[in-house]
Amino acid sequence: MPDKSGKAEGQGVAPALFRRVCGAFATGVAVAAVTGRDGKPHGLTVNSFTSVSLHPPLVLVCIGHGAATHGPFAAAAHFTVNFLDESQQELSERFASSHPRRFEGVRWHAGECGAPVLDDALGVLECETWRKMDAGDHTVFIGLVKSARTREGRPLIYFCGKYRRLEES
Ligand SMILES: Cc1cc2nc3c(=O)[nH]c(=O)nc-3n(C[C@H](O)[C@H](O)[C@H](O)COP(=O)(O)O)c2cc1C
Repeated sequence: MPDKSGKAEGQGVAPALFRRVCGAFATGVAVAAVTGRDGKPHGLTVNSFTSVSLHPPLVLVCIGHGAATHGPFAAAAHFTVNFLDESQQELSERFASSHPRRFEGVRWHAGECGAPVLDDALGVLECETWRKMDAGDHTVFIGLVKSARTREGRPLIYFCGKYRRLEES
């Protein structure tokens, strides 16, 4: 039970406050994806992406244990992170929804590592799974970046629970 300061005794800050404050940290939006043992593409919307190390080039994404995509991710040797641009909000919503065939009608191909690459992504990192670490109700997947590309464009942004776009400057 949280006290007046929002602290839940013994367990850190209360979840609602934690979500609200973390939501004030603006992020990009990406689709993280793997090819499953079934040979099919699996992917979900993430904003937990961060770059970790330059030497070697490491990145991470955190995936909730409850996500259906968690199983395929845990079993995969490679994953991709596909950064979305400001025109791709619908793609973000689809990959965060219960849509049964998320890749249907989406232009994608298997990348050099075999994991799905979204053709129109603003940036793509193809990763070899380097470490996996359970952390609370998520698993942190750290990837060694084997291939990377980007194009000109403007990112889709997520801030305080809403999609945003950069203002023209
Ligand atoms: C902007 C945004 C960012 C998200 N970031 C993450 C994330 O980093 N990790 C995660 O596990 N879920 C994240 N989610 C939630 C998943 O995309 C969502 O739960 C999805 O339905 C999971 O699909 P699955 O159950 O088929 O794996 C995010 C959702 C949105 C809208």
